[in-house]
Formats: sequence, structure tokens, C-alpha cells
Amino acid sequence: MTMELPVVLVLWFVFSLTVITNGDETIDLPPCDYSAIYNFGDSNSDTGGLAAALYPEGPPSGETYFKMPAGRASDGRLIIDFIADNLGKPYLSGYLDSIGSSYGQGANFATGGATIQRVNESWFQNGVSPFPLEIQVEHYTQFKDRSAYFYKETKDECLRKRLPNPDGLSKALFTLDIGQNDVAFGIRSLSLEQQKTAIINVVSQFISQIRVLYERGARAFWVHNTGPIGCLPVTHAKVKDPLPGYLDEIGCVKDQNDVALLFNQQLKVEIVKLRAELTNATLVYVDMYAAKYELISQAKNQGFEDRFEICCGYHGIDYDVWCGNKGNVNGTEVYAGSCANPSAVISWDGVHYTEAANRWIANRIMNGSLSDPMVPISRACHKQMPVS
Ligand SMILES: *[C@@H]1O[C@H](CO)[C@@H](O)[C@H](O)[C@H]1NC(C)=O
Ligand SMILES: *[C@@H]1O[C@H](CO)[C@@H](O)[C@H](O)[C@H]1NC(C)=O
Ligand SMILES: *[C@@H]1O[C@H](CO)[C@@H](O)[C@H](O)[C@H]1NC(C)=O
Ligand SMILES: *[C@@H]1O[C@H](CO)[C@@H](O)[C@H](O)[C@H]1NC(C)=O
Repeated sequence: MTMELPVVLVLWFVFSLTVITNGDETIDLPPCDYSAIYNFGDSNSDTGGLAAALYPEGPPSGETYFKMPAGRASDGRLIIDFIADNLGKPYLSGYLDSIGSSYGQGANFATGGATIQRVNESWFQNGVSPFPLEIQVEHYTQFKDRSAYFYKETKDECLRKRLPNPDGLSKALFTLDIGQNDVAFGIRSLSLEQQKTAIINVVSQFISQIRVLYERGARAFWVHNTGPIGCLPVTHAKVKDPLPGYLDEIGCVKDQNDVALLFNQQLKVEIVKLRAELTNATLVYVDMYAAKYELISQAKNQGFEDRFEICCGYHGIDYDVWCGNKGNVNGTEVYAGSCANPSAVISWDGVHYTEAANRWIANRIMNGSLSDPMVPISRACHKQMPVS
């Protein structure tokens, strides 16, 4: 008995620290005490921005967790919600949402349909958001300046609790998940040569905005790359008699995934360069593509049904009835309601993921095993991290 106790203590000590090896050095990183989370992105992480600003999504969205539509394109929570949970923060209120919002520990500037690049108005009719990354960063700046003003001016403790302490800014975590709509609307239809130029241009705009955030006080960044767009079930539903090689070994549209991979490769190169430039920042690049592709390819092993199944909505070669809408399929009037068991389906509406899939993906990425550097999200504030 007396001999066992120290062993247990030593083991507890070893497992309670995250140990990262940097050459010969082993660095023990304590968890970061983030003051807040500020998120930027598209519908993959929009928790109510677009719903407040333009058209809210109706039922059955939100049914699994919130029991009502909750400004999210899913039956329940998104990856950013699981990240907030993991870091002990409340779910983020959309910056544009004036009802019931609280920003004491973060804010969400993401809006569904958002792009990195400035948009051409003719894209709006395709669902592209009027709040591209540049505008989201402007919103952040207004948020930061005005909340600091009110935080200092007000004597009202209730109001103060709903605003971030301006002194905590450098200890906030900045999460970004954007690029899928640039690939979808601007890039994937171009020729390969044009794609390369467009990607360099779009990634450079992404990097410029990260730089602007840095100039405005951001220090810790957690940047998701873009997912396998060629695996989206709506894309898959349109494939008819594919030529050999059009689909990859699991049935995803290869050309489209290749564009996403090209984007990701460029993003990683530029983030590594930016790390050398912004020496006081921490920049973690997260391979979201790998996480999503792994889930989709191993659907059955991971407790999900067919990888291209859609929980809510009907999509085929010549019809699309989007989740929550009525329409005609094969000569029959249908209502696109929810499936019986959303927790067994990866895709909520053909484009967005279910809560069950989002939970799986969040668990896959948060421990840092798909990150560069390989640091968990709870430790992403540390500067003494291995570079690449
Ligand atoms: C927007 O796109 C449309 C269609 O591609 C094009 O005709 C128009 O010139 C573009 N407008 C601007 C301001 O770029
Ligand atoms: C990094 O932060 C330190 C301490 O605040 C400061 O003295 C230094 O000038 C900063 N370096 C850069 C490149 O901003
Ligand atoms: C519509 O018809 C096509 C072709 O017969 C079939 O593959 C598809 O499953 C049908 N869709 C629905 C929702 O029944
Ligand atoms: C991270 O979590 C995933 C999913 O739970 C697991 O497969 C992987 O082995 C973990 N990696 C590390 C380094 O802990």
C-alpha cells in the first residue's frame, strides 16, 4: 500500500499535463484561461447571425437539442457549441442578434453563406451572405470599441455582465471556419489554372483579415481549414452515370475535393508564414477536412447509417426539396421533415451536419491530433509551441 501511492501520484501528474515534444525539449502546457471566444465564419459555425439579420430557418431545425429553431443550420448544436462547452464557456450569441444575447464571454460574427472574398451582389440570390469575412471583422471592431465604452461607462452590473471586460482581450480565443462558400460559388467552376490563381487570392484575403484581427488585439487563433465539399450529399445526389475516376473510392466527387485540398494546402503555407511574422500570436491550423472525411468514410464503423443519407430534405438528379419545405418529388407532393433518428445520420440537410456528426467532429479535432502544431484547443494560447 505505502509503495503504491507515489506511483499513482506520479501517473496522475503525468496524465494531467499535456506534454508536447519540441525537438529534445518537452514542454508541459497548462490549460489557457481564455477570457472569451470570438468566432468568424459561415453556416458551419453560425449560431444565429444570419437568422437575426435576414431569414431565420424554421422547423424542424433545432429540434434535437434546443427543441425549436435556434439560428443554426442543424437539428442541434454545431462544432463551435461543443468547443464552447469544452472550454467552459456559454454558447456564443450572434453579434447581429439583439434578443436574449449575452457577450460577456464571447460573440459570434459568423453568418450563414459567408465568404472570405467580397461578394458580387448577383451571388446573393444563391444564398451568399452580405457579411463576408471583412465585414465580420468590422463588426468585431465595432463590438470591441463600443462594448469597452459601455463597460467603462455603466454602473449597471447587469449590463456589465453581458459585455466582455476590455482588459481581457489579449486572452481571448479567436476561432475561424470559412472558405467553403468561396470554393462553392467562386472557385470550383473555374478551370484548374484559374482555380490556382483564385485560391492564392482568396487565401491572401483570409490572411489579411487575420492580420487585422491581430492589429486589433487578437493573439490566440484556432483556424479550421475547409471540409470535403465533394462529399456533401446534395452534390452526391446529382451524380448520374459517373465516368470512371469522377468519384473517389468512397463516392465523393474528386474534382471538388481537390479544390478544397488545394485551398487547404495554400492556407497552411500562408499560416506558417504568418506565424513567423506575428511572433506574439499563436496560430493553430486545424485539419477539419481530415476529420470530416474520416467520419464520412467510416460512417458505418462510427455508428452512422449510409454516408450520403440526408436526414431532412429530398434531393435527386432533377429535384431539390430543402429541409422544412414542401415540393414535388417524382410526381408526388412531399413535405421535407426530419428523419426518425437524426443521431444516426451524418448530414442534416444535405449540406450541413447533424448534431451527432458535429459532436463527433468536435471530439476529433479538439485534442489537437489534427492540428499544426499538435496542440489541443484548451492549450492554444501558448507561444512555446513547436512550429510545424
Ligand atoms: C457580378 O456578376 C455578374 C455575373 O457574373 C456580372 O455580370 C457582373 O458584372 C458582376 N458585377 C460586379 C460589380 O462585379
Ligand atoms: C511582443 O510582446 C512584447 C511584450 O508585450 C513586446 O515587448 C514586443 O514588442 C512584442 N513584439 C512584437 C513583434 O510586437
Ligand atoms: C424518385 O425517383 C428516382 C428514380 O426512380 C428514385 O431513385 C428516387 O429514390 C425517388 N425519390 C424519392 C424521394 O422517392
Ligand atoms: C484525439 O481524439 C480522437 C477522437 O477521440 C482519438 O481518435 C485520437 O486518438 C486522440 N488523439 C490523441 C493524441 O489523444
